[in-house]
Amino acid sequence: MKVAVLISGRGSNLQAILKAENNKKLGNAEINLIVSSNPNAAGLEFAKNYNKYTIVLDPKNHADKTKYDSKLKSILLENNIELIVLAGFMRVLSHSFVDYFKNQIINIHPSLLPAFPGLNIHERVLDYGVKYSGCTVHFVNAEIDGGPIIAQRVVEVLDGDSPDSLAARILVKEHILLPEVIKKISEKKISVNQRRVKVN
Ligand code: GRF
Repeated sequence: MKVAVLISGRGSNLQAILKAENNKKLGNAEINLIVSSNPNAAGLEFAKNYNKYTIVLDPKNHADKTKYDSKLKSILLENNIELIVLAGFMRVLSHSFVDYFKNQIINIHPSLLPAFPGLNIHERVLDYGVKYSGCTVHFVNAEIDGGPIIAQRVVEVLDGDSPDSLAARILVKEHILLPEVIKKISEKKISVNQRRVKVN
């Protein structure tokens, strides 16, 4: 299964995926392409270290969102990509793009969705006072962070937590969960019925 990973920044989830592939823990998935929306993304270093084909698609070089998304779509199609993994990709994809790749795009989000979608998650989690947070891998649909949920991991919120300390503990779980989900999808162990996702 040919996979593209889309990033915009640090790339620690990308690194976890590439490590899993290297250790033969990614099932039938092959990471064929890395796309970064940011020419200065630190994560590009990981792509380089693992000798991965990388494309920088900077929004500054595209007139508008429609042009950007159609360029991205043609790159993915030219490379026969079957699964698109958003790993800290800081762009909202257009409705037509997500409809075209229905159930072929997954995203990792650092909260227990549907709680705390969007940005500044850990600050909002701490302000609200919930006792548990975590991470979610979900299919991407037209609603931001609103697609069918594939898998979640729970992290306890501690009294002394800051947004950074909570984010760091959640990130450890993200790095395990995202490669696991990619593996399962590549082994065809995941099926979707409306909003309900079955994982075997
Ligand atoms: C992660 O916390 C992920 O859940 C969110 O963006 C962050 C990306 O981190 N969508 P990294 O670039 O993978 O280090």
